[in-house]
Amino acid sequence: MEKIPQSVREPLHRVDSRLKVTGAARYSAEYPLPGLVYAALVTSTIAKGSIKSIDSKAAGNAPGVLAVISHKNTIRPPGYPADNEHPTEPSTRGQPLRVFYSNQIYFNGQPIAIVVADTFERATYAASLVKIEYSKDEHRTDFHANTGKAVLPESAKKNPRSALADYDRGAIDGYKHAAVKLEAEYEHPAEMHNPMELQAITVHWEAHNKLTLYDKVQGTQPTQQNFAREWKLPVENVKVIAPFVGGAFGNGLHNWPHETAAIIAAKMVKRPVKLMLTREQMFFMVGYRPRTWQKVGIGASVDGRIVGISHSSIGQTSSYEQFTESTLQQSRMMYTSPNVSTRYKILPLDVSTPIWMRGPGEATGAFALESAMDELAYLLKMDPLAFRLLNYTDADPEKKLPWSTKFLKECFEMGSKAIGWDKRKLEPGTLSDGHWKIGYGMGVGTFGANRGGAKVRAKLFANGSLVLQSAVTDIGPGTGTAMTQVAVDHTGISPNSITFQLGNSEFPQAGNQGGSSTVNSVGSAVIAACMALKKNLLALADKNIPEFKGLTLEQVIFEKDGIRLKDKDVGMSLSELMKKSGTADLDVIEEAKPGEERKSYSMYSYSVHFAEVHVHSITGMVKVKKVVTCADAGVILNKKTAGNQMIGGVTGGIGMALQEDAVMDHRFGRYITKDFADYHVPVHADVPDIEVFFADKPDYIVDPMGTKGIGEIAIIGVAPAITNAIFNATGKRIRKLPVTPDKLI
Ligand code: MOS
Repeated sequence: MEKIPQSVREPLHRVDSRLKVTGAARYSAEYPLPGLVYAALVTSTIAKGSIKSIDSKAAGNAPGVLAVISHKNTIRPPGYPADNEHPTEPSTRGQPLRVFYSNQIYFNGQPIAIVVADTFERATYAASLVKIEYSKDEHRTDFHANTGKAVLPESAKKNPRSALADYDRGAIDGYKHAAVKLEAEYEHPAEMHNPMELQAITVHWEAHNKLTLYDKVQGTQPTQQNFAREWKLPVENVKVIAPFVGGAFGNGLHNWPHETAAIIAAKMVKRPVKLMLTREQMFFMVGYRPRTWQKVGIGASVDGRIVGISHSSIGQTSSYEQFTESTLQQSRMMYTSPNVSTRYKILPLDVSTPIWMRGPGEATGAFALESAMDELAYLLKMDPLAFRLLNYTDADPEKKLPWSTKFLKECFEMGSKAIGWDKRKLEPGTLSDGHWKIGYGMGVGTFGANRGGAKVRAKLFANGSLVLQSAVTDIGPGTGTAMTQVAVDHTGISPNSITFQLGNSEFPQAGNQGGSSTVNSVGSAVIAACMALKKNLLALADKNIPEFKGLTLEQVIFEKDGIRLKDKDVGMSLSELMKKSGTADLDVIEEAKPGEERKSYSMYSYSVHFAEVHVHSITGMVKVKKVVTCADAGVILNKKTAGNQMIGGVTGGIGMALQEDAVMDHRFGRYITKDFADYHVPVHADVPDIEVFFADKPDYIVDPMGTKGIGEIAIIGVAPAITNAIFNATGKRIRKLPVTPDKLI
């Protein structure tokens, strides 16, 4: 039996909630530096071509304007490579678009000038006065008209073992020989990143070679390294500060042109510069979930055993950068199919580069796979849950390795019970309530239980308070809270005496907050740092408390802010111990890294989502009535913050299934959905009661806490759960997202 250590305890409240609700939390556009000036971007209104002329006279003469900077008069970051025509060597990681580098236009909405003024309003007004003449080239933005031009990504060409390369297990397209089979195409549009906090940066050149950025990013050190490289500065001369991030779902994993534009501006005007994108600009230049076309061929024997799955996918990218994501992973490992073929391609268009969006790739792929599973179950006249159970994998069929842990069956059980799956009818369109047709659907999700190396500093002060530091950011999940919990568990210090400081590139090493890996990575380093502290404390006890002489860590207990003997009621508070030993403070930095276990096990988190929807038979309106979401994410450190993650993911999935749709007018190659009036995301009225369940079983192979990662699996599989429920309600199979009412009447 697995032990279930955490499930009963009370979760910590968010450690930063007071700062957030009182407005004391400072975001990247909220640093009132002396001499601060404001910037606004001028962006292109054509999708491809070049700038013939820029008339910045009126803008330059407008009140309060300090500079109008474009390719005509800009300084060049010294790290920019010389050749701009075929950008193969990105100046920052994954950002080959060089700002104001030439007169070339690569996409509609590209930053082509930046105006700096003494107020935000004056900068914005002056930016509107810049007149541009273009020489237009014919652009290619229409995905459907160009699917024939899709290509294998360079990385897959170079490495045939890459997860993006063609994959075959068993016979190629083996599904074709199955007794019951189907082929279907699925598609979703581009989905735009729209976190609450707009992308913003405040730039301060503290000296000619010393740069401080208050930047909305998901990683302080990756950003530090990128801009150190771009400006040819020693890494330690670039400081990136991001202690609070107002939501980020992947677009802060990349650095974008507006950041470089603001750094150039600050350097040129010799003042700190603040640049915040407008909501409209968020739709054009900071990434999005790429429009993707997919085709699934799937077949099974008459008794429901899967014979083959073939899954191909084409995702859009830009003309200057190859964005790829892991769309087909779930099809390779989720079900016991002897024959699996996957084919991944990208389609370069004259658009800005896409980027990861929560459950990147996997959420896209799961929509196709989990829809196809539902379709095949219907053809087999099988319950879709029974069909999935029959084809459940107890080991990884792709890597041929055991799972570290997998408790998806337990999730199936909890979730199906809570949604009332037994009410579901096999035959669609059977249940109704007046004009409302009622249906139930499910969708499964998975995401790698990732972990990277990280370091944490732990400083125990003489008064017994503990400060922990990591460069990691918190984009919303409550990293400080979870890390405080880990420190409580491993030092016995009470949560009120612990402060977890983050979001500063000068703190010990951490990667991006992304890929559902922060708790696994940084939490492991917190444990390592706590362990080092405990060793130091035991050494102090050894010298200063006679009963502790010669003891090992196994013979003592750290609890209630103190240390005591395991078998006797002898102990001392940590502050007393420090005082007695004359120690001012203890200060350690420790590192934790994943090890060899990654070669012997396959590690994934899992989720299953069950949805009940009501579809109006006349208007086609869809109401998601209830969602039950269940996760196998290892041990749950904090039910409240983890539950928030699941609810947020389901909310995103509702948007993906029913609302989000970035519409482009191909005459101009420009998105015409550019605010929340046109581009819909779920509001409270769209979001039903969401019930969250966790398997809450530890996976000590992934990391010493037994956690596996939650952020992505919260959304992966939600959209198909909803569209499958719509099919069950109406008998209508909509394979093109979003499922708007017009598609149902
Ligand atoms: Mo996430 S798409 O790794 O922010």
